[in-house]
Amino acid sequence: MASKALPFTKQKIEEILEEYPTPFYLYDENGILENARKFKEAFGILEGFKEYFAIKALPNPYIMKILKKEGFGVDCSSLPELILAEKVGIVGENIMFSSNDTPAEEFIKAKELGAIINLDDISHIQYLEETAGLPDLICFRYNPGALKQGNIFIGNPEEAKYGFTREQLFEGYRILAEKGVKRFGIHTMVASNELDPQYFIETARILFEVIAEISEKLGIRFEFANLGGGIGIPYKPDQNPVSYDVIAKGVKKEYDRIIEAKGLSPLKIFLECGRVITGPYGYLITSVRHLKHTYKDYVGTDACMANLMRPGMYGAYHHITVLGKEDITPTHKYDVTGSLCENNDKFAIDRMLPDVERGDTLAIHDAGAHGHAMGFNYNGKLRSAEILLRKDGSFIKIRRAETVDDYFATLDFETLKSFE
Ligand SMILES: Cc1ncc(COP(=O)(O)O)c(C=O)c1O
Repeated sequence: MASKALPFTKQKIEEILEEYPTPFYLYDENGILENARKFKEAFGILEGFKEYFAIKALPNPYIMKILKKEGFGVDCSSLPELILAEKVGIVGENIMFSSNDTPAEEFIKAKELGAIINLDDISHIQYLEETAGLPDLICFRYNPGALKQGNIFIGNPEEAKYGFTREQLFEGYRILAEKGVKRFGIHTMVASNELDPQYFIETARILFEVIAEISEKLGIRFEFANLGGGIGIPYKPDQNPVSYDVIAKGVKKEYDRIIEAKGLSPLKIFLECGRVITGPYGYLITSVRHLKHTYKDYVGTDACMANLMRPGMYGAYHHITVLGKEDITPTHKYDVTGSLCENNDKFAIDRMLPDVERGDTLAIHDAGAHGHAMGFNYNGKLRSAEILLRKDGSFIKIRRAETVDDYFATLDFETLKSFE
């Protein structure tokens, strides 16, 4: 299989290792910036376009600040994420709040920040009204059910827990209009890690058609359509990145054909992508701790599934480069493992790599989204530090590694002493 280029050298990693031990995440600021600008330029052909970076993918305030400077908003899904946005100075309609099974305090905080609230269910209209009060602008998440095929990551829309049915959408907007709400948005997200641009164009068409029908039937005017996130990235070296231009031009064509033609413009177009914004620009850097030869050959690393759970959870492919051995032909088949007491704690299975030795450093690619963020503490494992490789080649720590004290912070050992 072909290789994947790295934006840093082995020497640079050795420099970082003098200050920070493995495992750690390393993010490439240059890559994030160049991609963000390409993204904005491509989708900028769409009416009032804005990207709300889904911070669940990489909830680090330093990364958020970089993206804020590029004009991105954020998509939040919980109270801590709302507070994080506030701390970065992202407030008001620069926040899209898309959650489900939402508690009252989250609606209250979202309303206090002036965020755009995206409701996941028709019953939440009353709940929101009773808890936080109805804001001027409300959005509903549409689940198109059988109208749309899902993919393996998010499942079939009809089986998915998210969103309103088509009938509920009509009823929901009617209720809002009756209650005096004046500004309306609509949202959908039916795929995750999807590499086919047609999928997003088709989603836009479905959304534009339902907007046209609702507008006509209820006489309301939509301000925006949020096409969600879910644009995939080429985890495997032989896959190609999704063309932003193809999606943007395809969505524009559907916009002109449906929205423009029916006199429903201006309708602003939003996205809330996470993975494609930062995914390819983050690496889990880990050292080889042990080599084990039993029925198979194992490379045991100092990272584990608690640092990056995608391979263990969905068998996801993450490319691995052995630093300094980039030009050596991979002749050896390994399982690359972590130290959890779980047999699926494997970053790679039957992966061809050059001969690996103890002390080698590995870069696990495409870990910049849904990577560190999905970390957990099972087996008493601690989450690693996050380091940002800056545009000028310098590096800074943007999150320290967890310590044993962090792990124990929720326990009261004093009370334990007198506990019988
Ligand atoms: C509501 C919502 N928006 C956006 C995203 C971001 O998805 P992705 O990172 O695949 O673009 C997610 C991911 O789970 C989501 O649930």
